[in-house]
Amino acid sequence: MTGPFLPPLLAVEGLTTIFPTRAGPARVVDDVSFHVNEGECLGVVGESGSGKSITFLSILGLVRPPGRVSAKRMIFAGKDLLALGEGERRAIRGRDIAITMQDALTALNPALTVATQITEVMLAHGRARSQEEARAAAIEMMRLVGIPAAANRLDDYPHQFSGGMRQRIMIATALACRPRLLIADEPTTALDVTIQAQVLELIAELRRELRMSVVLITHDLGVVVEQADRIMVMYAGQIVEEGACRAVIEDAAHPYTAGLLASMPSLDTLDRPIHPIRGQAPLPGPMPAQCRFFDRCEQASEACRIEVPLRPFTDGRTARCIRLKEGSHG
Ligand SMILES: Nc1ncnc2c1ncn2[C@@H]1O[C@H](COP(=O)(O)OP(=O)(O)OP(=O)(O)O)[C@@H](O)[C@H]1O
Ligand code: SF4
Ligand SMILES: [Mg+2]
Repeated sequence: MTGPFLPPLLAVEGLTTIFPTRAGPARVVDDVSFHVNEGECLGVVGESGSGKSITFLSILGLVRPPGRVSAKRMIFAGKDLLALGEGERRAIRGRDIAITMQDALTALNPALTVATQITEVMLAHGRARSQEEARAAAIEMMRLVGIPAAANRLDDYPHQFSGGMRQRIMIATALACRPRLLIADEPTTALDVTIQAQVLELIAELRRELRMSVVLITHDLGVVVEQADRIMVMYAGQIVEEGACRAVIEDAAHPYTAGLLASMPSLDTLDRPIHPIRGQAPLPGPMPAQCRFFDRCEQASEACRIEVPLRPFTDGRTARCIRLKEGSHG
């Protein structure tokens, strides 16, 4: 999809987000570095609480105090996000980078009609020149995401739609500005299977047509397998594995990734028995200086009682496990 010489659309280095907890500061995003190339889809997976949403909310400047965000580097389309003021950051948010939140009800403004929400973003970001043009584009977007009788429903309020419809309205709002990067946080969880497929197809189509890049955050590895070029697996605030989607799915390097794959019923095409990962992810708070997956890992040994770094091992893949050998996996 992209040439090897193009710089990535988004490059993030050393992103860390800390929330205070009773037990002490929790690094819910801990030194996370990754990139998204032009036109590609990056799948982000991990259990609930692993830091997927907060990673991207942090990049967009949407984490509120007492949460604290820091990073060594954050570049989007050649612009240094760390050097931008709040106003400039807001201009990028919505226009160049759009996010669809997990919870459509809180993401949409209950006091504004759907028309107002969609047209306001378009006018604010210069994606429509007049109210009429914005309304026409809003109807088109709503039709695209599969809202029946879109023209008649434009002046309804969010609570007048079902959960699934609200999810689609949020996606329409995000796409209305034709962003260069769409961050889709669990875009299909609230939708039934047929609509899930339609929404994913719509996102894939826009990706092809507009060369839009997509970050797809999801619990559903089946969705990732179909859509993503690369995959990033998060556990307890850290990236534990990253690489080309096919390669990772076919031959997981990290025991946690392997555990996720084994516990996914939706990967029925791989025809294997379902084994949930034993134990629970650690609660947010200070972590001991050892592999964070230690207590749940069937391959854990005393040698894992160190801060395990994320290491490259083969074909541009990285993983955070002491058992990796150069040239293994793939
Ligand atoms: N405002 C907050 N204050 C304190 N802790 C928070 C806050 N928001 C999130 N967290 C914690 O940060 C961690 C990461 O949360 P995040 O929402 O990124 O997880 P996630 O991977 O997106 O999970 P899910 O799959 O359930 O959406 C969680 O442990 C969560 O409890
Ligand atoms: S470092 Fe050790 S405990 Fe951690 S994932 Fe690898 S084998 Fe398991
Ligand atoms: Mg989330």
